[in-house]
Amino acid sequence: MKLCTSFFCALFCGAILSGQSAPEIPRLQKQGTATQLIVDGKPFLALAGELHNSSSSSLDYMRPIWGKLAQANLNTVLAVVSWDLIEPEEGKFDFTLVDGLLEQARSNNLRVMLLWFGSWKNGMSHYVPDWVKSDFERFPRVRLRTGAVEVLSTLSEENLKCDARAFAALMHHVREVDSQDRTVIMVQVQNEVGVLGDSRDRGELANQAFAKPVPSELMDYLRRHKDDLLPELRDVWARTGFRASGTWGEVFGSGSATDEIFMAWNYARHTNRVTEAGKAEYPLPMFVNAWIVQPEDELPGDYPSGGPQAHMHDVWRAGAPEIDILAPDIYLPDFTSICELYSRSGNPLFVPESRADVQGAANVFAAVGQFNAIGYSPFGIDSRLRDPQGGPIAKAYKTLSQLAPLILQHQGTGTIAGISLDRRNRTAKFRVGDYTLNAGLRTNRRSSELPELGYGIFIAVGPDEYYVAGSNLQLTFSANNPGPPTVGLATLEEGVFVDGRWTPGRTLNGDAIMIDYDMASMAATHQTGTGVRFRGDDPEIMRVKLYRFE
Ligand code: DGJ
Repeated sequence: MKLCTSFFCALFCGAILSGQSAPEIPRLQKQGTATQLIVDGKPFLALAGELHNSSSSSLDYMRPIWGKLAQANLNTVLAVVSWDLIEPEEGKFDFTLVDGLLEQARSNNLRVMLLWFGSWKNGMSHYVPDWVKSDFERFPRVRLRTGAVEVLSTLSEENLKCDARAFAALMHHVREVDSQDRTVIMVQVQNEVGVLGDSRDRGELANQAFAKPVPSELMDYLRRHKDDLLPELRDVWARTGFRASGTWGEVFGSGSATDEIFMAWNYARHTNRVTEAGKAEYPLPMFVNAWIVQPEDELPGDYPSGGPQAHMHDVWRAGAPEIDILAPDIYLPDFTSICELYSRSGNPLFVPESRADVQGAANVFAAVGQFNAIGYSPFGIDSRLRDPQGGPIAKAYKTLSQLAPLILQHQGTGTIAGISLDRRNRTAKFRVGDYTLNAGLRTNRRSSELPELGYGIFIAVGPDEYYVAGSNLQLTFSANNPGPPTVGLATLEEGVFVDGRWTPGRTLNGDAIMIDYDMASMAATHQTGTGVRFRGDDPEIMRVKLYRFE
């Protein structure tokens, strides 16, 4: 991340004049294998929600929403700022909406991630100002095989210049109005970019660029990373025997895979320059989001071609080094496989769009515990507030906000895990601290019916001590270091964290811990037949102390 000198000066002088120092600018920081978002100098877990696309275009519409979002236990809201509304006339900026949104967020103690709907939103260019829309000579459109579409070309310098200028103006303004509060903690640049309806732009500028040699920046990246490229890109390049130079067709072969690489490069370059212009004004962490490949998609263009798809991450890294996170929008059921794809090569996981139902609750536990996610954000959160505290996400966030200090302390250190199970994947084994945890969907001794979903998060806080939280799950422990082989429960408490302090409720024993009375089998497998049982649909927190015997 780059900081301009005038920015430091502005902060420093402002602080001296006001007699108080500004809170530290939000930034990303490594902890072990995790990357965390640091807000006000401390790690921050974004328990977030994204508003519908049009919500933040009206302060009146938003006014009653914020309080409900806070009641639903969110700490962060993802809100759109669109180019057409901040620059209705070329060069004249109006930030009334941005100021109003930040004030409303602050008075509800909520942080904000701004979504810059600039040149592209879901591949389209619907949020560009009218003066851009109507001047198709100055701002050329993408041309598919079948004709022109309402999408700005990535190859237009004029479009890039104007998009970058508007984004820089926005970030300049945010720095001016928010450096004392740091309400804005991250920014998304564009939204789900990529060409739909064809594998690449076939306009004049695009065809000229496609016939030229692959830019040296991309070739250098490929050469430097030849041995650690993600397999998807490596396989395409291997088709030409890893050709070291030439046109796009010569280096990668002909076909839609090459078209997609070409588009990814051009979207990444445009996004990088916009991001660079914004960060020069105010260097907040910045990310892009991907409309991921859907099961029915066959070719690039069925999904946005050139977006930050998992298989295009190397191209995006090469083309957009200013972007800190390549983030997936995950509505598909196989949440954890997608998290895995987006956690490769050190990409920090942030999920800006996903679900808010029970599957969403399971998703956030897995994201945060298993993949060290910076945060999670169900989409369209403002239409889920009829009973703000009663929904699955509100309940999941209530639990996770109590655990957040512990989660953040343990992410990236091998002492935390998360899990989401369903009827197809009913059990899992994983190491956390000195024990292997055996998790399974909750069973009932008198019925064979299983819950549809179970999820949990597990944190080793001492040699034989864990805080665990979850729903519809059961859990036993096996020793994974030398010593007596059988592991029993010393004590099990349910409870809550109040202002960071553990406040126990009942001590659980008897039926509440009994999983299996088949003592012969239990003895043979070094189990006691007891374990932690999360019996309800709503997540609970428990503190477990273990002991061992032989
Ligand atoms: C993904 C987009 O990024 C959002 O802006 C919104 O259009 C949702 N899809 C709707 O499901």
